[in-house]
Amino acid sequence: METTIEQLLASRPATAFDVELPAAKVAEFRERGFTSIERITSDEELGWLREVYDWLFAERVQAVPGGYFDLSRPYDSPGDDLQPQIINPEVRLPELRRTAFWRNGKALAGALLHVEASKLLGWGHMIRKPARVGESLPWHQDEAYWDPGFAYTALGCWMPLDPATPESGCMRFIPGSHRGVVRTHRHVGEDPSVHALFTDDVDPNLAVAVPLEPGGAIFHHCRILHSSGPNRSPHVRRAYANEWQLPAVKRDVAAPRPWIDEGKQAWKRRAKSIVG
Ligand code: NI
Repeated sequence: METTIEQLLASRPATAFDVELPAAKVAEFRERGFTSIERITSDEELGWLREVYDWLFAERVQAVPGGYFDLSRPYDSPGDDLQPQIINPEVRLPELRRTAFWRNGKALAGALLHVEASKLLGWGHMIRKPARVGESLPWHQDEAYWDPGFAYTALGCWMPLDPATPESGCMRFIPGSHRGVVRTHRHVGEDPSVHALFTDDVDPNLAVAVPLEPGGAIFHHCRILHSSGPNRSPHVRRAYANEWQLPAVKRDVAAPRPWIDEGKQAWKRRAKSIVG
């Protein structure tokens, strides 16, 4: 008999997996805007997370309204997804907040951002690059996706569940770019109904690729320029990331980010078409 999601959740391994963050990693994060560690959780938890992850994508779970979509194609396109994403999976499965990945990510985010970890809010997203067809995610800054009416202190904690290699679409960064402003972004294909954003304001020759084994983690600043290549390998490349941030602070004047307004309109049209 197949395992149900309830049985799977009940079988979550209680993982006491503590990680230390050497001072050199904190310095690297400050200087370059990203750093990585070899392990953030145990093999047992990693195995459990893979099963949970596969269930979420097999069921195309919308943990929040509209929270499942293909990043690389217009919303709700027919056919196979090129790069599906699930937002806020922990809203549907609160067990995801009880993992070593969650706990360690939060603690290390506090150390890297120089804030009290208990003040950080966390939310997750999962990006899946199917074998051979998984699309690239072009150069962007995560903050470019967020409400420009607020200022952020934030980083992403990104963990691959499969080997992340140049062939399978590992992450790439422009060191030091986190110190700059949010660059001008556009929607992929100049189509606001495609969720993914990109910027041309980048020199890819400066890119540093960060291959990583499953269960390792990259911490990256919300303003660092980063991208990931397509998955040309014969294996799926699953990744799970949590964003860690202080409560966002309202700005007196919203930063001008027209691509956000265009995206909001497309999202509204989508919501209407789903409701019918
Ligand atoms: Ni990103």
